Amino acid sequence: MATIPRRTFIAASLGGMTAAVAGLGASEPEPPAGLAAAAARRRLFFGAAVRPDQLEAEGDLRQAVLAECSCITPELALKWGAVEPSRGRLVLQPMDALRDFAAKSGKRMRGHTLMWHRSVPDWAQAALQERADWGLISSYFDAVITRYGGAIKQWDVVNEPIDPGHRSDGLRENAFLKAFGPDYIARALVEARRLAPQGELLINEYGLEYDLSEERQRRNALLKLIERLKASGTPLDGVGLQAHLDLRKGRVATSTIKAFMRELAGFGLSIMITELDVKEAQYADSAAARDRMVSDEVRRYLDVALEQPAVAGLATWGLSDRHSWLEVTKADYARFPHAWKDGGGPGLNRGLPFDASMQRKPMYFAIQAALLGREKA
Ligand code: G3I
Repeated sequence: MATIPRRTFIAASLGGMTAAVAGLGASEPEPPAGLAAAAARRRLFFGAAVRPDQLEAEGDLRQAVLAECSCITPELALKWGAVEPSRGRLVLQPMDALRDFAAKSGKRMRGHTLMWHRSVPDWAQAALQERADWGLISSYFDAVITRYGGAIKQWDVVNEPIDPGHRSDGLRENAFLKAFGPDYIARALVEARRLAPQGELLINEYGLEYDLSEERQRRNALLKLIERLKASGTPLDGVGLQAHLDLRKGRVATSTIKAFMRELAGFGLSIMITELDVKEAQYADSAAARDRMVSDEVRRYLDVALEQPAVAGLATWGLSDRHSWLEVTKADYARFPHAWKDGGGPGLNRGLPFDASMQRKPMYFAIQAALLGREKA
């Protein structure tokens, strides 16, 4: 009996448009257009963080977002410091623009992020030091959840609440904790639930992927936090794993990630991969070798992450290297003192699916293949 090659079987069972018929010499089915289409076959979303000014000014970015994403995340526009730079003066135009773009193009939008220590406006930081006034928090929540709750169903209510090594509960000593105590997290989730009864409420965290002592402590502290929240009946629907992968840290710890995700899922939470990208280590290598290291790491991560049925979607933190927050720093240059003597340089960090000219890179195809469950190339 003739055996159907595994790749053909997977593609055919995924319902490829040009079904391959074994024996008739038909070519391999075309992969579905765009990462969102590949993700949709597994009932996942694929998205990216975007900025409205860039979307408006850069046609190639706009086209890529339209073609690749079923979901967008505001990279900056929803953060408290961006929305309310001075007390009571709301800057809503950038978020309105994103909401309109999402509505017109049929994309969903993630609500990133309501409480983050790095996005507290200066005036609020000072006011919270002066007095623990929860009204400041609730009026910001009210303004954005009421205005965007129709467009946004999923909220990163609290971002990066864990900071191992300072307190026994592992919580970050941020402006919120200092003002309201550790209960600020539960209080924020309850407040968000009041304003978004149907919303999906998340805690979003970073630094969870490697077998390093700090990351081990962060995973444990996050699990303990979730355990406490669940035990007290606090509304928490999911967890966002930022997944800023980092080749300087070694290789992602796949069995640890698998076990960690299983524990998260055991709390009945859904899991989103919210900010995938890769910080490189070997800047002196050829672009092809660097791209290979990046795409291999992404594939290693996604193969284990996408196996977990609680994972509901995946977003990268930007689409193109030209927009990445990850920079090649002076310290990176210093690690390669003998490279680029001819005055060249490593160019940009290559940790996103598209290069600076908006061409697909191996990382793109690694995401696509992981979504489609293809064998490794
Ligand atoms: O736009 C101004 C520019 O006019 C000014 O000259 C310049 C001077 O510093 O600042 C520019 O704004 C910066 C902005 O990015 C746009 O580049 C802000 O200073 C800078 O703080 C801001 O950084 C963002 C950071 O969050 C803080 O909001 C990054 O772009 C954004 O990628 C990053 O995203 C975070 C996630 O929200 C949470 N997880 C980690 C992730 C990466 O740090």
